[in-house]
Amino acid sequence: MKVVVTGAAGQIAYSLVPFLCEDGVFSSSQKIDLKLVEIPQAMERLNGFVKELEDSAYSTVNSISTFDNIHDATIDADWCLLVGSIPRGIVLNGKEIKERSDLLKINGGIFTEQGAAIGKNAKSSCKILVVGNPANTNALIGKINSNNDDQLWMAMTMLDALRAKAQLAQKLNCHVDDIYRLAVFGNHSPTMFPDLENTFIDGKNAYQTVNDHQWVENEFLPRVQQRGAEIIKARGASSASSAARAACETVRAVEHPTRSGDVFNAAIMSDGAYDIPAGIFSGFPLISDGAGNVDIVRDYVLSDFAKNGLKKTADELLEEKNLVKDLI
Ligand code: NAD
Ligand code: LMR
Repeated sequence: MKVVVTGAAGQIAYSLVPFLCEDGVFSSSQKIDLKLVEIPQAMERLNGFVKELEDSAYSTVNSISTFDNIHDATIDADWCLLVGSIPRGIVLNGKEIKERSDLLKINGGIFTEQGAAIGKNAKSSCKILVVGNPANTNALIGKINSNNDDQLWMAMTMLDALRAKAQLAQKLNCHVDDIYRLAVFGNHSPTMFPDLENTFIDGKNAYQTVNDHQWVENEFLPRVQQRGAEIIKARGASSASSAARAACETVRAVEHPTRSGDVFNAAIMSDGAYDIPAGIFSGFPLISDGAGNVDIVRDYVLSDFAKNGLKKTADELLEEKNLVKDLI
């Protein structure tokens, strides 16, 4: 099992790599060859992390190697977790990067090269999860530059779904594990649309159980949509531990069959489902057969409120696509 992680000396990877090395994340019993990628300036920091990983003596790990280029790292890769990129909240050239979309030009270029390398070098069954922001449009850039239709490209919306579950569980005083079929549609941005109208808790519809549209529209949605910014404000750095857990849970969700009646969340290339235009990466409710096939669940019933939400987030994704047209 060859598993590539970029941005391996960064905050998210510091939690993500240990999570991935726990038993049972991957369905294969093969041991993991970890391929950790960084920019040349961060190799020393990465080497320090490698020492810690060696000292953790994981029974799941066969080898750990480091790379300062994506090309050698991706040869025969089974999974690529593309975390390496710049987070928002920092000041670049005297200007604070406020929105994830401000990162389009800065990070977009990384994904042209990484996409091409993965398309050429990684296995045709390779699965790719883009975490680096703006994740949906970076995934689009990567996939198009990969020129390979067999590999599965995803962008991370699992964190948004976990955030939505946590808010709902607090509201209804239930456990997050009791919540199922919760889907986050659209962009990993303030326009994302976490849907409660098709979500269930112990057989009961979540929206009807909450029975308070005002809370859904004016508290739940903005809280989930702005959670990343809320964390940056409080922590002085973007979410890392929760992002790492969400990335690991996305890998686990793809690697194992989805529980009957449930879904998992990631953004994949739209084929027009739910009227999200084809050719952009959107969050959808997904199921996996655990053997590499991931499909959109298509039976969600959307109210006019939800349809408006989906249109807004799809329009934003089309705008982002237009802004990177020279990269795709
Ligand atoms: P970080 O700055 O701590 O780490 C990023 C690392 O990437 C750095 O070590 C940097 O040297 C490395 N890097 C930069 N360019 C690279 C390249 N071309 N190849 C390999 N490595 C490269 O940032 P972080 O907190 O780990 O966040 C990483 C990204 O994840 C950010 O873009 C952040 O906004 C994003 N993020 C996404 C989600 C999500 O839900 N999709 C959640 C949290 C954070
Ligand atoms: C998040 O949602 O926490 C990340 O995308 C980081 C950010 O910029 O908000």
